[in-house]
Amino acid sequence: MSKRVLIVDDEKNMRWVLGQALSGEGFEVVDAADGKGALASVSDQAPDIMILDHRMPEPDGMEVLRRVRGKGQTFPIIMLTAHGNVAQAVEAMKAGANEYLTKPFDLEELKLAIDKALQYSDLANEVERLRQELDREYDVEGIVASDQRMIEVIETVRKVAPTNATAIIYGESGTGKELIARALHNLSDRANKPFVSVSAGALPDTLLESELFGFEKGAFTGAVTAKPGRFEMANGGTLFLDEIGDISTATQVKLLRVLQERTFERLGGTRTIDIDVRVVAATNQDLQQLIADGGFREDLYYRLNVVPITLPPLRQRSGDIPLLVAHFLEKYNAGSMRITPEAMEALVTYQWPGNIRELENSIERIVILTHHDEIGLDDLPAEVRAGMSPTQRMPSGFQLPEDGVDLEEVELDLVRQALDRTGGSAPKAAKLLGLTAKTLEARMARLGL
Ligand SMILES: Nc1ncnc2c1ncn2[C@@H]1O[C@H](COP(=O)(O)OP(=O)(O)OP(=O)(O)O)[C@@H](O)[C@H]1O
Ligand SMILES: [Mg+2]
Repeated sequence: MSKRVLIVDDEKNMRWVLGQALSGEGFEVVDAADGKGALASVSDQAPDIMILDHRMPEPDGMEVLRRVRGKGQTFPIIMLTAHGNVAQAVEAMKAGANEYLTKPFDLEELKLAIDKALQYSDLANEVERLRQELDREYDVEGIVASDQRMIEVIETVRKVAPTNATAIIYGESGTGKELIARALHNLSDRANKPFVSVSAGALPDTLLESELFGFEKGAFTGAVTAKPGRFEMANGGTLFLDEIGDISTATQVKLLRVLQERTFERLGGTRTIDIDVRVVAATNQDLQQLIADGGFREDLYYRLNVVPITLPPLRQRSGDIPLLVAHFLEKYNAGSMRITPEAMEALVTYQWPGNIRELENSIERIVILTHHDEIGLDDLPAEVRAGMSPTQRMPSGFQLPEDGVDLEEVELDLVRQALDRTGGSAPKAAKLLGLTAKTLEARMARLGL
């Protein structure tokens, strides 16, 4: 597409010469004979670049430049200034001109200036586009994250959401597995079709099968009418199979078949039903271990494990805690509540065995129970506060057991805990242990870590 250039000069000849030259270069040319006309053209014509004469009757070029930039318009502007007037040129650049040419100039000079300014603005536009894309990327479906591993999770979600690939989400309870599953759905072209969720853990085997596959009338005692299952309800959309590790091996076989063939029959039925469903599974169990123990079929595992997504526990991404706290304060209409540094430190230090769900519940309770506008240590749940008690932090009350200890073992354990808690960051772990990063590194080497 050709670029549109706006030429602003009160001299008719100048407009004509420049217009001829630039349309010969493939530009679409519009012009204006004064400042007023220039401002009107800027808003009506949305030029890609403007050649602006400095000296014109009011409003003059400088004034036009200031007003255009004042409105946040960023397209390149080349000022034409009087020969030898350096002050004018400097003033123009300060006010946001990209280039200036002193009259008289030759056309080659002008073309070069235009090329340079356009290149620069294309680059700036590209940067802006990428920045907006980033903004969008990290504001995906209300997922709050700054931790590198979580950013990678979000990148994976964005990348695989538009595909039909089966995904499985691993993570402890409360780490956001369902949130991620919903994001996979909402960012896909299935978004306006149903997202149906089934929790395998909540149901006994036979009930689970009738939930998943539905049943025909008379399939079993009590089946007085036919009923479609969740697979059918999710047709065209996404089926979220939560706690997949709890499914019996018999049901696993049936599930495997649906995943392989995308067909099934209702319980007690003979009609084969075709479905188009994207399956997202989740588990807080170690499926490899389950397979080793004979509790999970390896072939089903490979069917599900096409896109594995692992959510780190909150204690390994404590850097996200302040962000999450702010997010949940906002969510519970307490965005204006402040929080003391000690309270924040306690929240960051606590291990959060229930992960983000536990953090969210705590913040909700705090918001309800706190009637001043600053959250302090005293407002935190007892277990969170306990994490900050000196005896917990400094094992000075440590009792040497009768049969003694292996000091190296204890040290190894503490170093491991510190690394675990800080997501493997040696400098942060060193801080927790009261060591310098150097000392910790030396010890880690000695301990064989
Ligand atoms: N990164 C995050 N940003 C914002 N909110 C989050 C995030 N992760 C989880 N949450 C919120 O925490 C709560 C628990 O998340 P979710 O239900 O997805 O966890 P889960 O892993 O499915 O838990 P469970 O294993 O107990 O079912 C939800 O309210 C969810 O919106
Ligand atoms: Mg869940």
